[in-house]
Amino acid sequence: MSYPYQIKSFEAYQEAYQKSIQDPEAFWSAIAEHFTWKKKWDKVLEWNFTEPKVEWFKGGKLNITENCLDRHLATKGNHPAIIWEPNAPDENHRILTYKKLHEKVCQFAHLLKNNGVKKGDRVCIYMGMIPELAIAVLACARIGAIHSVVFGGFSAQSIADRLEDAKAEFIVTCDGAYRGAKDIPLKSVIDDALIGNKTVKRVIVATRTRTPVSMIKGRDVCWEDEMKQVEEKGITFIEAEAMDAEDPLFILYTSGSTGKPKGVVHTVAGYMIYTNYTFVNVFQYEPGQVHFCTADIGWITGHSYIVYGPLSAGATSLLFEGVPTWPDAGRFWDIVDKYKVNILYTAPTAIRSLMGFGLGPLQGKNLSSLKVLGTVGEPINEEAWHWYDEHVGKKKCPIVDTWWQTETGGCLISNLAGITPAKPGWATLPMPGLQMVLVDENGKEIIQEGEETISGNLCIKAPWPSILRTTYGDHERCRTNYFATYKNMYFTGDGALKNKDGFFRITGRVDDVLNVSGHRIGTAEVENAINMHAGVVESAVVGYPHDIKGQGIYAYVIYQGSHTQDTHGTGDLVRKDILQTVTRIIGAIAKPDKIQFVSGLPKTRSGKIMRRILRKIAEGETENLGDTSTLLDPGVVDEIKNGRL
Ligand code: PRX
Repeated sequence: MSYPYQIKSFEAYQEAYQKSIQDPEAFWSAIAEHFTWKKKWDKVLEWNFTEPKVEWFKGGKLNITENCLDRHLATKGNHPAIIWEPNAPDENHRILTYKKLHEKVCQFAHLLKNNGVKKGDRVCIYMGMIPELAIAVLACARIGAIHSVVFGGFSAQSIADRLEDAKAEFIVTCDGAYRGAKDIPLKSVIDDALIGNKTVKRVIVATRTRTPVSMIKGRDVCWEDEMKQVEEKGITFIEAEAMDAEDPLFILYTSGSTGKPKGVVHTVAGYMIYTNYTFVNVFQYEPGQVHFCTADIGWITGHSYIVYGPLSAGATSLLFEGVPTWPDAGRFWDIVDKYKVNILYTAPTAIRSLMGFGLGPLQGKNLSSLKVLGTVGEPINEEAWHWYDEHVGKKKCPIVDTWWQTETGGCLISNLAGITPAKPGWATLPMPGLQMVLVDENGKEIIQEGEETISGNLCIKAPWPSILRTTYGDHERCRTNYFATYKNMYFTGDGALKNKDGFFRITGRVDDVLNVSGHRIGTAEVENAINMHAGVVESAVVGYPHDIKGQGIYAYVIYQGSHTQDTHGTGDLVRKDILQTVTRIIGAIAKPDKIQFVSGLPKTRSGKIMRRILRKIAEGETENLGDTSTLLDPGVVDEIKNGRL
């Protein structure tokens, strides 16, 4: 067997699951034995969900990069660790073997040290999908600096907020990034983000697009120049920092129901073990296979299943710079064909968008190397599931529907490819170690009995190794967000169904968080951004079903600005201004799909916006709006209904 802890039958899954619940410490420590430690742990697990406090492998010392790189050198030094496919198909691809990646990571780690980065410092990474992004991430981990990767689509304002929250002193970025036909000037966005910033001391700028950049003396340095200095000294190695198991590995910001994104903190050992375990088991990875996760490293999926999970397993991970529809909608299939990809892991929104192009782009592409398909980020509709199964997997590849979150570090509910049963639209069974329960609004556990399918809020009773440990700089926020809604449970924010087989189907968020194209966006965040626009008095944002994005953003806006006249006409100019404002404040990903101008919002007498009503109208439901008699001004509902877009 390739990985001693790889589950190879349904019975083995059931056995592992039982063991993991009966004796989690024995279960996870047996798996932890297969990793490289500088010092073994003293205690496997200590926890309570009231503070909350979760500590796995306390007292252990290790470095995740020794597990992702050094330990593979003897046997896999010349195997590809990263295959990089550039944005433009006619540009040369790059292959970094484990030896090469190890060398580059060590060299860049030196570079970071030369620039003053120390263990525990926060390094913000804002780059396109080039190998240097993975190198920067791993180099931080090598010296114990905490990386905070920010997705390249976020605006200067979003970066500024994150820099301030993390008190980051260092930034690694690029001159620009290519994404399809676009060329995004990353360094210039960083320059804007740094106006007024007081913590950042150094910005390291890699060259990718050769876009002209302003380099500020004493603050900005060039990646290539600095690397050259390290290389000229003949340096190819740096000792890996001995990290405590519970030292922070990274911060990743994600949206919640308040206006301000939260810095989710993951720690070294638990995160490493869980991402590795799930990578090997969910995808049933076999050594030598090529794994292609199409996410961006700026999201948790990229952290866990492009970088840490695959590399800790000695796998070959494909990193793609571009987008699925450029230069045409056959790009994924070209990549699968070119590199003989075995595992393809993508988002339902990508599948739906590619479905829209018909079967033409698939023609003439050899997809016979594919063994396993995966989806993540949002519920997959049956139509998309069957299309993926039939036209991509040719009905020969199991599809894993992996449910998880930034906060969970790795997949928590998923079938294991070809090992446990799949069911279209259902994430199916929990991973070993996961005690998933459904509760009613009072926190009472709903027990599934007989043939019935139950429905409730999805909670977890006990910690798994890669549960978030805190929200950076504000532990109380972590407690109130995840551990206070229901006593002694982690609350996911999702609703779910559970059927007679114990399978789970995720129905979507039950809080004020939207899932747009698999990206999490808080309604309050979008409202704050819209309200920044001069002339906007108030706004309310809700989600509505969208054929490709899963959810679209619907904004109701009360506007009294200088273009008021215009909102009585088409309102197009004001709409464009508002979109521009949202793009500036958050980023283009948060732009509302629909903006309806209204004269008032349905509010209770205490001033609370009745979102339920707004959501129903946005979804096209205009009849059964429920009780509107408690509203301050019930008449406003008719106006909103009549003006629906
Ligand atoms: O609502 C769930 C949805 O995405 C949320 C987590 O978003 P994020 O932290 O950005 O992480 C996305 C990638 C792991 C969840 O609360 N979600 C994620 N995966 C699925 C899903 N909904 C249904 N099915 C899934 N497989």
